[in-house]
Amino acid sequence: MMNDQVVYINGERFKVLIPEQEIKKRVKELGEQISKDYAGSIPIFIGVLNGSVIFFADLIREVKIDCEVDFLKLSSYGDEKISSGHVKLLKDLDCQVTGRDIIVVEDIIDSGLSIKFIKNLILLKNPKSLRVVTLLYKKNRVQIDFKIDYIGFEIGDEFVIGYGLDYAQKGRNLKSIYVIDSQK
Ligand code: IMP
Ligand code: MG
Repeated sequence: MMNDQVVYINGERFKVLIPEQEIKKRVKELGEQISKDYAGSIPIFIGVLNGSVIFFADLIREVKIDCEVDFLKLSSYGDEKISSGHVKLLKDLDCQVTGRDIIVVEDIIDSGLSIKFIKNLILLKNPKSLRVVTLLYKKNRVQIDFKIDYIGFEIGDEFVIGYGLDYAQKGRNLKSIYVIDSQK
């Protein structure tokens, strides 16, 4: 059931966009690149809850240097498929950011509102450096004036689920990434 080409979540039909094996390969590449770029440092990976947990867990296991982890949680979407446009901090960081190399791990960047908020929040704490890695990047929708350092896949405008991403809290446990299928 979980490896199906088509799944139904909350009554809507979704089809595979990025299969499990392709995700696995790309996550390994990202981990290798980050390991090279941060050789000699002990970066702190910051996971953005809840969506990034699956990517986060897979990514840090492809990182071959010492690292630390922490999490923060935002809310902006509610249970809809379109952002409410409001970002709220639900859980702040516990780690000491000052003077450290920070890598924020996101599941997806859509409008860019969340990552802008996160960047400003962390920069206030004076890190040594700050970079962002996102698994997915909606290139036609993003409205930000800074670059994202590591991107897994650039995708179109459609709503996607799976591999941590949800539709009204469901679908996070799917192993592949699925896109809403309008041709029912
Ligand atoms: P942004 O602030 O518009 O960039 O949205 C970022 C957050 O919205 C992501 O971290 C996701 O949690 C959620 N999100 C954006 N697009 C999608 C999607 O296509 N599927 C599921 N969640 C999404
Ligand atoms: Mg998110």
